Amino acid sequence: MFRAKEEGSRRLFLQQVSMGVLGTWGLGGLTIPELPQGTCDLPPHGAATPFRRDCRPIRPRQAADRLTPAEVTQLKAAYQAMRALDTSDPSDPRGFIQQANVHCHNCATSDPALQMHFSWRFFAWHRAYLYFHERILGKLVGNENFRLPYWGWDSTGFRTLPAPYVSPNDATNPLFNPTRVLTPGTSLPDADVGPTVINDVLTLGSFDDFGGTATGSGTPEGTPHGSVHVDVGGDMGFFSSAARDPVFYQHHATVDKLWSDWNKASPIHTNPTATAFRDLTFTFFDENKAWRSITAAQVLDHENSLRYVYEPFRFWERFLCLIWRSFPTDWRVTRRIVIPRTNPGLLRAVSGDAPVRLQLRGLEVPRDRSTNYRIYANEAGAQADAGPKSPAYLGSVGVVLNDPANKNPLRGSLNVVLSLGPEVRATLARGEAIQPYVVSRAGKEGEKRVIPLRATDVAVSVGEMDREK
Ligand code: C2O
Repeated sequence: MFRAKEEGSRRLFLQQVSMGVLGTWGLGGLTIPELPQGTCDLPPHGAATPFRRDCRPIRPRQAADRLTPAEVTQLKAAYQAMRALDTSDPSDPRGFIQQANVHCHNCATSDPALQMHFSWRFFAWHRAYLYFHERILGKLVGNENFRLPYWGWDSTGFRTLPAPYVSPNDATNPLFNPTRVLTPGTSLPDADVGPTVINDVLTLGSFDDFGGTATGSGTPEGTPHGSVHVDVGGDMGFFSSAARDPVFYQHHATVDKLWSDWNKASPIHTNPTATAFRDLTFTFFDENKAWRSITAAQVLDHENSLRYVYEPFRFWERFLCLIWRSFPTDWRVTRRIVIPRTNPGLLRAVSGDAPVRLQLRGLEVPRDRSTNYRIYANEAGAQADAGPKSPAYLGSVGVVLNDPANKNPLRGSLNVVLSLGPEVRATLARGEAIQPYVVSRAGKEGEKRVIPLRATDVAVSVGEMDREK
């Protein structure tokens, strides 16, 4: 039963190993050295010097599909120059493979001390990583006003791979990656980035739920973040190789925009004030190859500190405003329940029209493949696996492995908050318990697994009824 999948991943692994053995693959006249998995050590460096105040003009990051032709040309020139460093000086930390190794080094490890996922480091570290990456690209094209574009899958208009990344869809395009599974023109599914997913995430009431804690992830780290990694597939499907696809940076700029939007959405959407968070220190090579340290506190105000804003996208801004007006944005846990026992506390909590969310800490799912788990309120719903249109559908969680061979198994706690739809709430209101199941599929039409949902800590979270009238 597991055979087809294992062979699939072995094939992928062999393909990546053989690219390493072959050593090079061509790209528009460039020869790009391809390193085997696992060799993602960073070039040597001395002690880090602290991040210096950035006084460049504040410029917008724009949706990649809205760039002007001249901006697309510059973006491609920047990545072309970055890739050229891979051959002209493979030890230059600003080269494309070296930049990808930064992610591999910090994010594809089982060592919790180094791992930048599964905790409140996730948003801050990736913001800092993109910032230094963006400054390097700007330096390579001699333009301090250069800012990374973002993919924009949070908006319904930008659900396919951004045009510059797929046109042309071959190795003459420095933004191309040959391993993607998502084909140009194919939309990311609703279950992973649809308006419900985005709204649910943007209305999470605490940083714990949104951005994670010292020891566990926030909700969006699984979906949409992990889900999009899985959907793009190929290099993007594993943390060790994800940043070898240039679209990684567009994906993460969108994740970063989500954080920025969440902060703006409500006065209660504040970042942690704990010193343990603010003093988190990350290190990167800067645009002059200097080894720099930057703290979480220094990345919180991206506009003033890192000199970029997200392009105001009028329709979306208005849409967000309407959402804030009509949905409660403050959530508090009123009861703790254990699935699957019927719990009168839960039933009381869900009677009335208060929106209800299920808070799962320490979600236990198999970590043997990169996949999107779909969660349903009952086994029949899970067997049918009809996605968001199923009345039993509760949500998705994307799980991304460290590496294709699972050499460095994932460690770290996955926390998610799921909204309960009207049918599920009606079930609970009738006094019936729910027993959620999770479904995973290997690949598009692959083998399906249906397993009971387990988590170390399950709570019900009820939205406060403070919506504006
Ligand atoms: Cu560090 Cu999207 O991964």
